[in-house]
Amino acid sequence: MEAAKLLPDLEKEDLRILMAIEIGMKRSEYVKINNIKFYSRYKMEETLFRLNKIHKLDLIIRDSSKNEIGYTLNSIAYDLLALHTLVEKNIVSQLGPLIGKGKESDVYSCMDDNENIYALKIYRMGRTSFKSIKRSRDLTGERSHLSWLYINRLAAKKEFEVLKRIYKLNLNTPKPIGYNRHIVVMSYLRGKELVYYKSIKNPDKIFNRIIKQMEIIYQKANIIHGDLGEFNIVLDEKGNILIIDWLQWIPSDHPNATSILERDIRNVCNYFQKKYKVESDTNKIIASFYKK
Ligand SMILES: Nc1ncnc2c1ncn2[C@@H]1O[C@H](COP(=O)(O)OP(=O)(O)OP(=O)(O)O)[C@@H](O)[C@H]1O
Ligand SMILES: [Mg+2]
Repeated sequence: MEAAKLLPDLEKEDLRILMAIEIGMKRSEYVKINNIKFYSRYKMEETLFRLNKIHKLDLIIRDSSKNEIGYTLNSIAYDLLALHTLVEKNIVSQLGPLIGKGKESDVYSCMDDNENIYALKIYRMGRTSFKSIKRSRDLTGERSHLSWLYINRLAAKKEFEVLKRIYKLNLNTPKPIGYNRHIVVMSYLRGKELVYYKSIKNPDKIFNRIIKQMEIIYQKANIIHGDLGEFNIVLDEKGNILIIDWLQWIPSDHPNATSILERDIRNVCNYFQKKYKVESDTNKIIASFYKK
């Protein structure tokens, strides 16, 4: 990853300038040099020297179309700030290879000082797909001027917080380890998504486990996954599962809760029925969710 490669080249003064731009970006996309100087509390000479350096490293974008020059962070700079903080907090010490690429995120493996391996999910919403634009509206409401930086930060916070709530139930959901800005670190299951298996052992058992867990999460935490299916369930060789990708969760008192819950359940039932001939009575399962 680009940011991880650059991190060792940066001095703390460079990072402070990046953070000053980040603060300024709460008010406007491009931040004027005077404001960068103000937020960093450096002298003008130091500010200009650092801006020049990080601009050459391709971490900031310059806008010279107005009468005052402004700078904005690019996504590599934002990755850098988040990674730097995660390292400072001793949550992460090394980044591993890319393990998954979603429509709105890149997921890497990473390691802490004790050689525990985690999944590190970096949100990348807000520029491409229709779905991500829709999702970002769900997050920011009508405040549509808000930047990609803010949207992705909100997404990470939202996923981290829901992971904390469901992790208490002791089921097969990722353990939240930490988050910063647009990055969430969580426990990692070395496997692949259900959809990529040609066949699995004990499909009945796995099906039942998934349904049972969704039921507990619904009944005890009032949480509905919202995007459940063969793409968001990781399975390993030993038959362990991990139900991932909780960003689009909704509470059980959401106006569309019934239809979204039923869609989640149907997705799982249909997939196991078609691929593994696991017979189930979808209506009966749905009914059992509503019985407390
Ligand atoms: N905790 C984890 N353990 C193992 N693999 C993971 C974990 N989290 C994510 N992955 C891998 O990364 C991929 C993408 O992660 P995730 O599904 O959370 O986000 P997303 O795919 O960007 O969202 P969307 O499905 O809406 O595109 C997963 O399909 C999976 O391969
Ligand atoms: Mg996914």
